[in-house]
Amino acid sequence: MSRIAYVNGRYLPHAKASVHVEDRGYQFADGIYEVVYLHQGRLIDSDLHLRRLERSLREVRIDPPVSPDALLAILAEMQVRNRVNSGLIYIQVTRGVARREHAFPRPGTRPSLVVTVRRAPPFPKNLDAWQGAAITVRDQRWARCDIKSVGLLPNVLAKQAAREQGATEAIMIDADGMVTEGSSTTVWIVDAAGVLRTRALSERVLPGCTRAALAEELASSCIGFEERPFTAAELRGASEVFLTSATSFVKPMLRLDGEPVGDGTPGPVARRLFDLLSRRIVGGLNSLAPRG
Ligand code: PDD
Repeated sequence: MSRIAYVNGRYLPHAKASVHVEDRGYQFADGIYEVVYLHQGRLIDSDLHLRRLERSLREVRIDPPVSPDALLAILAEMQVRNRVNSGLIYIQVTRGVARREHAFPRPGTRPSLVVTVRRAPPFPKNLDAWQGAAITVRDQRWARCDIKSVGLLPNVLAKQAAREQGATEAIMIDADGMVTEGSSTTVWIVDAAGVLRTRALSERVLPGCTRAALAEELASSCIGFEERPFTAAELRGASEVFLTSATSFVKPMLRLDGEPVGDGTPGPVARRLFDLLSRRIVGGLNSLAPRG
């Protein structure tokens, strides 16, 4: 069956789906995106993702192209048309098509909405084959990493550096020697004192939906964690390093810059968080009360 893409109100064969050459996403990276995991036909934590999409759009002053309900209907239709049970839904909104001028186009320019779906492996059964290695790189991004912008060049270069060194992820270190996040993931550690930590939300990191989901699961399991930044040295001294995202779930990093992390195997805390996320996703416990 052929893949279908949604482009500005039309469902098109994926191979023929396109936007205009003067789309501002193409010319200026003037756009926002989201990636939502699809498990057995259920959109995982879609409320968190759609709320973050709305927020990103608001921050860069792009009008939502459709209402939240209409977007959910498009996502459902895409699932049906592509017959994808387990996969990823990609949503992209740009400021639309206009003659190339840096300032916003004239009022009334329609934002572009693109949705694609692709198959992905099902949620892993356990951590036996779900692990990786990380390198550290300099964080070269802009000052508003809390906005899920399609402008991802530093992330692309960081991830490619990881690939070229046989690693799965690049963990970014800012000019003060603090860990920000992975090129496409949130970073967590169990520090030398045994404390589970991830840095607090700010303009320096993307507010991860998986992070938010896990924070909720940790709270209901009475497991504490600290939202406190850590240095590259603390990262190196950690007994566990793991990453979270809509596509990585909870993924232990067993090597960092070529050196083993802890004893070089997935640690007990990563296992616990993986189980919590598995229960939420596979067990269908992913409905969150909307936040105000
Ligand atoms: N990336 N930090 C960055 C820089 C990210 O790009 C992502 C997600 C995350 C984790 O966010 P979440 O838990 O909501 O997936 C953190 C997506 C998966 C991507 O760009 O493909």
